Order: sequence, then structure tokens, then C-alpha cells
Amino acid sequence: MVYTMKIKILKNYNEVINESYKVLSEYLTKKQDLVLGLATGETMIGLYSKMVDDHKKSGIDYSRIKTFNLDEYYGLQRNHAQSYYHYMNKHLFSKVNINEKNIVFPNTLSNVDASCERYNLALEENKIDLQILGIGSNGHIGFNEPKTSFKSKTRLVELDKTTRVDNSRFFNDLEEVPTHAITMGIENILSAKKIILIASGSEKSKAISKAIDGPVTELVPASILQRHPNVEVIIDIEAGKNLKGSMNYVK
Ligand code: GLP
Repeated sequence: MVYTMKIKILKNYNEVINESYKVLSEYLTKKQDLVLGLATGETMIGLYSKMVDDHKKSGIDYSRIKTFNLDEYYGLQRNHAQSYYHYMNKHLFSKVNINEKNIVFPNTLSNVDASCERYNLALEENKIDLQILGIGSNGHIGFNEPKTSFKSKTRLVELDKTTRVDNSRFFNDLEEVPTHAITMGIENILSAKKIILIASGSEKSKAISKAIDGPVTELVPASILQRHPNVEVIIDIEAGKNLKGSMNYVK
């Protein structure tokens, strides 16, 4: 079976966010019990800010929406300034009428195996309608680093040095960046009905071209998205500057 990804290359970050929100807002308005997969990182901040603005303006109702976050640093308390829970609370959860019991987050502080198992079960019971994804400069999705099995599920992982260096900009120094995280696996991500992959800036251009134009390989985790039937890639010119055009996508 050959699937083709839909690719939108836009002028800049703002356009990328506007377009991504256009896709997302259709889901938010049409399906009140939406199951939404969420990502963190700098790229997503604009998207969450649009969600909050539109909630205030148009009263989009989040009370029945269920969210699953992709990943969380291992060992950080939820109120740690760099935990992904804190990020989500700051940028989205505290600003919309989401019901706290509908927020599903990897718990990195309790028994890890049991908590990953619970997460996998919850994902089986709640099929994600729309998964939002960013990409790491090394091609990771969630915290699934290069060489992750495409059959992987939610588990504890060791972070690549490149990821820790990339993310050290949010911490005081590299030493402070956790060495491990819990992440949804590739198999969990692929079971989402639709995925949008969002990227902006030239730091992402190599990862984007490998993920889209390159072979499907576990060395580039995002390349598996070529095998998903419903992926939309929304990027700016800088992130797309190395794309050559391939059989794997339609512009
Ligand atoms: C982290 C997250 C990823 C995210 C990536 C890119 O490593 N685990 O889910 O895609 O950062 O983040 P940024 O948008 O900050 O470049």
C-alpha cells in the first residue's frame, strides 16, 4: 500500500501556526468528545496561544475533550518549571475549560513499568483522533530517538546527547537536563487516526528532508510517518528548504 503525505510549505512560523490551527479547530468544533494528542516544545507555543485566544473569543468548549501528552521528563516534579506538565498547564490547561480528569499524562514519579502499562491501556481504550507532532533536529518524534523500534510502546527511554543539548536552552545548563523520559512509542503514535507534523526554522530542515524524502528507517523515527494513511506536514520555507520533492508526498 502506498500512502502519500500532504505537505504544506508556508512563508513563516505565523502562517504555519495559523494553518495548523485551521486543521485543529475543525476537530475542536465538530467533535466535542475529541481525543487529542498533544506535543510540547517551542514550536507548539503559538498553537496553544491560538487555542486559548479562540476559546476566549468563540467559547470553544474543552469540557469533554480528552488529551494525551506524548512525553514527560523522567524525575521532574509536575510543578518543576521545565516539566512538560508545567508547560502544558501554563500554555493551555489553566487557560481553557478542560476537565482535569480528562488530562492524561505520563507519570514519571511512580512505578515506571506500571505507569507505562496504564498509559498504553488508556491509549487502547481511547483512540486518538488527532495527534499533533513536532520533530527533533535528529528526527525524533515524542522522545523516540533514532534506532527506536517502530513497534515500540510507552516506556522509559534514555535521551540522546543531541536532544539534551537542543533542550538545554530551557535549563540553566546541560547537566540539569534529565537523562531519561517516558514517551509514547512509535506504535502508539501511528495508531492516531490523523497526525499533523509541525516544524519551523532551518534547524529542522535536515530532519524534515530525511523524514519525508528519505527511506523509512528506524534511524529516522519520523520517517515512519510516510507509512501512515493520514498525515499532514505543515512547515515553513526554512524547515522545508532541503526538500527535493518525492513520490511520498503531494504539495
Ligand atoms: C522535544 C519534544 C518533542 C518536540 C521537540 C521539538 O524534544 N519531546 O516532542 O517535537 O522537542 O521541540 P521544539 O519545538 O522546541 O524544537
